Amino acid sequence: MTNPSKPTFFVSTPIYYVNAMPHLGTAYSTTACDTIARWKRMDGFDTFFLTGVDEHGQKVAESAVAHGMTPQAWVDSIAPGFQETWKALNISNDDFIRTTDERHVRGVQKFLQLLYDKGYLYKGSYEGWYCVHEETYYAESDLEKNEEGEFVCPDCKRPVQKASGEENWFFKLSEFQDQLLAYYDEHPDFICPDTRRNEVLSFVRGGLKDLSISRTTFDWGIPLPFDKGHVTYVWFDALLNYITAIGYGGTPEEEAHFERFWPADVHMVGKDIIRFHCVIWPAMLMAAGLPLPKKVFAHGFLLTKGEKMSKSKGNAVSPQDLCAVFGVDAYRYYFMSDVQIGNDGSISLERMVQVYNSDLANRWGNLCSRVFNMCGKYFDGKVPQFPESQATAPNPLKDMAAGLYTRYRDCMDAIDYSGAMAAVGELCTRANLYVEESAPWNLAKSPETSDQLAAVIYNSLEAIRIMACFYAPFMPATSAEALRRLGLQDPAAIDDIQEVSSWGGLPAGNAVDKGEALFPRLNIDDIHLGDM
Ligand code: MSP
Repeated sequence: MTNPSKPTFFVSTPIYYVNAMPHLGTAYSTTACDTIARWKRMDGFDTFFLTGVDEHGQKVAESAVAHGMTPQAWVDSIAPGFQETWKALNISNDDFIRTTDERHVRGVQKFLQLLYDKGYLYKGSYEGWYCVHEETYYAESDLEKNEEGEFVCPDCKRPVQKASGEENWFFKLSEFQDQLLAYYDEHPDFICPDTRRNEVLSFVRGGLKDLSISRTTFDWGIPLPFDKGHVTYVWFDALLNYITAIGYGGTPEEEAHFERFWPADVHMVGKDIIRFHCVIWPAMLMAAGLPLPKKVFAHGFLLTKGEKMSKSKGNAVSPQDLCAVFGVDAYRYYFMSDVQIGNDGSISLERMVQVYNSDLANRWGNLCSRVFNMCGKYFDGKVPQFPESQATAPNPLKDMAAGLYTRYRDCMDAIDYSGAMAAVGELCTRANLYVEESAPWNLAKSPETSDQLAAVIYNSLEAIRIMACFYAPFMPATSAEALRRLGLQDPAAIDDIQEVSSWGGLPAGNAVDKGEALFPRLNIDDIHLGDM
């Protein structure tokens, strides 16, 4: 349910081709969006988080043939696998769009008709090359040659197909060059990070060609409303998911929902699809007279042994395989904190175990176990009252926690997940040190230090409470569990984190449940997985 009194935040993943099941690369985009969506909800935004699947196009049609199925039967068999994987990763998407949904087809046709009526589409003949794997047109000058002397795609290196004289409809993309350049100039944060912005700027400055937006050589796509023998080019169809899913072209209520959430705050995409999102998509919206998304953020690739990880290269361990070993939260934490999101990131099992043990088992999990246990031992499992006598004593955890909200929020606004996790991690390290240096086990020996003991345990529990809140967008289940053990609500229900995370919110007297280790230590020798 949307809440009209709150500001809105709309974040989207790319919609994934259903030629294969999700893998670590696609799960990475989705987890990144989930993390930001969960944070924005906690920070008081009426958040809409969209993901889905891209079901049309030649690549998907060919996968269907390879599996002896009709395209519709094929996409129907694959799409649920995405929904199940996202459920398994605790992804909190508000909607899941399939481009075969009736609502999408209707919106795409409305949009095409609008552009046709406005004179932005014309019929012509396409001479050039097409890569089915990338679903992208290439000029001959863009291509490379393989050892056999065949032209291959510069991106995926697969042989390309010659399209000669195919009658297509074209979108007048070339007319938007100046408008796009002006827009990039006026909105320096539209394309992030800067490397991608520069890449797009130089591409557009080099001049834009009109884009073929329809095909007649196969029929797995959305028919053009004004020329039914043509189906819409898969990218032109796919990009429109961002508006059709939220209500564009729908009933008056759906349109109102669209008006409320559009323009998107962040389109999260991989760096390989930046031109579609930063050149073609904004030009389409300009042609339709619709506002442009506020930000397109391009993440890098996950690399294993120096190579891009992908299902087709066969070097993909599934997200579920890793979750079975590490647990969902540790899986999410590793990818979000250890990979610098704007860059390519090398991932390995060794590193994953190392991060798990150092950050989660030894630091965060250990802190919770120790403090919950001591609360059990010294205070009968009840949060102690913070003693008046200790009000002016030095309180390093309170001091550190005071700046956490602002620092964390600034990192999240800049889509710097590692920075946000470093901020919480520093408090966690400090809290472990605080327990060491305060030595509650010594304070417990004499009634004269009982106030100090109560203060140390209260402060440690309170720091845990606050950290659990800030860990929640990354590790929702273990944060909920840590808070449950403190007798508190699920962080998914929080919508005023600034208030909730202010010091002193932990009620004295709450029953504290010791529980099992949140992150039991792992030994790499006990882990048997495929190549990663
Ligand atoms: N269907 C299009 C997107 C349309 S959006 C309107 C598409 N689909 S995809 O399934 O091929 O890729 C989706 C996303 O997954 C891309 O952003 C891509 O960068 C990302 N990844 C695929 N492999 C990846 C890695 N190895 N690492 C990180 N992300 C990568 O493109």
